[in-house]
Amino acid sequence: MTDAAPDFDAAFGVQLDALMRWRRDVRHFRSDPVPDAEMQALLANVSLAPSVGHAQPWRLVRVRSGERRARLADHVDGQVLAAAERYADPAQRDQYRSLKLHGLREAPEILAVFSDDRPVAGHGLGIATMPEMLRYSTVMAIHGLWLTARARGIGMGWVSIVDPAALAAMLDVPGEWTLIALLCIGYPAQASDTPELEQRGWQAREPLTDRLFER
Ligand SMILES: Cc1cc2nc3c(=O)[nH]c(=O)nc-3n(C[C@H](O)[C@H](O)[C@H](O)COP(=O)(O)O)c2cc1C
Repeated sequence: MTDAAPDFDAAFGVQLDALMRWRRDVRHFRSDPVPDAEMQALLANVSLAPSVGHAQPWRLVRVRSGERRARLADHVDGQVLAAAERYADPAQRDQYRSLKLHGLREAPEILAVFSDDRPVAGHGLGIATMPEMLRYSTVMAIHGLWLTARARGIGMGWVSIVDPAALAAMLDVPGEWTLIALLCIGYPAQASDTPELEQRGWQAREPLTDRLFER
């Protein structure tokens, strides 16, 4: 514990707004590695995330094996091809196929994030009626990682076009771990304040007024 709470001034607030606006889901990476000290800084902030009952259910698998990485990339490519077939409209199918939906072959770091559905920590607090809170906690940790990365000039891309059971088998993890995200991490090829799917004409950001309700 420390008594010296920082004073987040207005300038920091402006910077934080910019961080939110300039965070991106990154699929195009430079090839230079992320220094290990930087990776450790990102991972350290995961531990600061909020979690139900303070259960800290996130489980991180840093993929070091080139062979596993190749299998992951092949798997996602297969899933992407299969997903394209779900679009009945040929033009939309072609547009989907033209999107780059992962950087698993180029990103210097690959992190698979699982959530432990039966963590000892937290002693079950807060999950009697909504056990999914554990997985939401893991999502919170990923978002913290995403922002931390961006603040350090590092990009992150979330890959979810996967068969979670296949990934769990590939990465040899315990049965009570549920896959939440497969993450590509590295220095982005370019910065942008506009989502790539918006740049590519797939889906624009919609107005808050369509998403905000009062009762
Ligand atoms: C839960 C989740 C899953 C996602 N899965 C994928 C994915 O499989 N492939 C991909 O290219 N982007 C994926 N994304 C990234 C979104 O496409 C991206 O967040 C969205 O287009 C907005 O862009 P931005 O994150 O740059 O603001 C995912 C994002 C989230 C939050």
